[in-house]
Amino acid sequence: MKILVIGGGGREHAIVWKLKQSPLVTEIYCAPGNPGIGEMAKCVNISVEDISALVEFSREINIDMTIVGPEGTLVSGIVDEYRKAGLNIIGPSKQAAQLEGSKAFSKKFMEKYKISTAKYNQVTSFEEGRRLLNQYQLPVVIKADGLAAGKGVFICNTLLEAEKALQEILVDRVFGDAGSEVIIEEFLEGIETSILCFVDGENIVPMVGSQDHKRIFDGDEGPNTGGMGTYSPNYTYSNEMAEKVMEQILKPTLKGIQEENMDYRGILFVGLMITQDGPKVLEYNVRFGDPETQVVLTRLETDLVEIFQKLLINQLNSIEINWSEKASVCVILASTGYPEKYEKYKKIEGLNCLDEDIIVFHSGTTIKEGNLVTDGGRVLGVTAISNSIEEARHLVYVNIEKIHFEGKHYRKDIAIK
Ligand code: AMP
Ligand code: GLY
Repeated sequence: MKILVIGGGGREHAIVWKLKQSPLVTEIYCAPGNPGIGEMAKCVNISVEDISALVEFSREINIDMTIVGPEGTLVSGIVDEYRKAGLNIIGPSKQAAQLEGSKAFSKKFMEKYKISTAKYNQVTSFEEGRRLLNQYQLPVVIKADGLAAGKGVFICNTLLEAEKALQEILVDRVFGDAGSEVIIEEFLEGIETSILCFVDGENIVPMVGSQDHKRIFDGDEGPNTGGMGTYSPNYTYSNEMAEKVMEQILKPTLKGIQEENMDYRGILFVGLMITQDGPKVLEYNVRFGDPETQVVLTRLETDLVEIFQKLLINQLNSIEINWSEKASVCVILASTGYPEKYEKYKKIEGLNCLDEDIIVFHSGTTIKEGNLVTDGGRVLGVTAISNSIEEARHLVYVNIEKIHFEGKHYRKDIAIK
């Protein structure tokens, strides 16, 4: 089989790495990919936003299956275009991708299908928003409705901060049209956790749990990022809680997908807050998480292609999905300054001196004048799989010391119990 993966980050590198192990696969292409991915797949210079070029490429060289990484491409409707062209693709339709593409859409969906989430209001004007703020306790959460590259959520500790967030989103339009509507939301307290699931029209199958670390600095200080490190299994997530999440969240979500006639054959990533009143949904993402995928797929024993084949024909229930008992830890090496401004094109050295069992997933890297250099906020995901979280963590941190680039920043407290 010929497979195309769309995207060029650590998540896509992990997907390619896993697909590469499948005996069913003859060739893997990645658009646009990155230098790490280029070591195991053919990188194709097509932008993730150029849907017609991606369809054309897939048709031309007879791609048997396409897997989409980034949410923007899914929200733009790539799945509908592929299906129209008679091509196999893993992901939700444009309508279903609204579960991530519009927070107002997903809140209404949760309300309709009685899926527990934070109380909220949806507003379109600054004045309306300001009036409603006094119905909320502090801190209060303000969210831009549309996609904002992870920057559209403001946790506001004072009324002034909340008003400033409303102003920035609704009046200054810092996120453009993604901010034409705003969700004001109750702040939830608890333990945050994410569950990735395989979904077809009939089944929802959770993958093993993983835990991200969102803030940029140790001790969960500083601004939110795309994710600074992950581990799996998630020891904060008990089997009992997993059962509760299945009954109270995942099954009602599948019911909603069915009743709304959504074509959802892809990945659903449910962001949860485990509160004193039970699990509540913070958000849906309609794709693999980054860097959750790096630790989850390194524990997957079953052939990912076989899973996708079943998923495409709504038969996920007919395949047993096995996971390694081992633990996986991924620590992100970022550019100093991320998630705000940072410098690029710093030479990366030391990758050829690492222990054998370390896997380095590339996020923001490129080649300049024959050298591997940094090309993003998140640069590399150093990953190890071992007998315990402690062992995997130790391996990762020992090897991080061997990797050098100017401005290397990483959290030192990933996966500490
Ligand atoms: P989202 O993009 O909606 O997942 O929000 C990004 C991050 O903001 C989440 O991962 C949480 O850490 C935080 N967050 C979002 N909504 C809430 C909420 N209602 N209460 C507390 N934290 C939240
Ligand atoms: N790590 C969070 C995300 O992929 O959205």
